Amino acid sequence: MKEKKKKLPDVMVCDTDDGWLYTETVKDHFFHPRNILLDDTGYEADGIGLVGSAACGDMMLVWIMVDPKTERITDCKWRTFGCASAIASTSMMSVMVTENGGMSLKDAVHLKPQHILARLGGLPERKFHCSVLGQEALRDAVENYYSRKSKETEKDDR
Ligand code: FES
Repeated sequence: MKEKKKKLPDVMVCDTDDGWLYTETVKDHFFHPRNILLDDTGYEADGIGLVGSAACGDMMLVWIMVDPKTERITDCKWRTFGCASAIASTSMMSVMVTENGGMSLKDAVHLKPQHILARLGGLPERKFHCSVLGQEALRDAVENYYSRKSKETEKDDR
């Protein structure tokens, strides 16, 4: 009888038998990240969000374009020094906020890492925090959009 081969983890922890597997959706978004922006020269975003720190490597930048009439996100770009899980989850987040005519800013600030994980088919538990990076940078970008807008309104009122 043929012996069934044990599926090897995608990632092995050094010197142990421990490891973890990623879903096919996570691997797809990691190997083919959507909406990544490696060079932002000339990209004029309506809102920019930044979380984390380059010093420890977990930095995430998110740029959004917003339709001022509908207050929906028309474009979402990002860049990170984070790991595979951060790349996959932010890639998925960028799809979620721009699909179906774009997410409203109101809904975007309420987007939770759990919503992103559901679309990815999950992440290993120890990688959950990586999905928070993109979501927090998105929230920061929305706040930045509102702050820019209120400064413009103040300028117009003078
Ligand atoms: Fe730091 Fe994933 S972003 S471990």
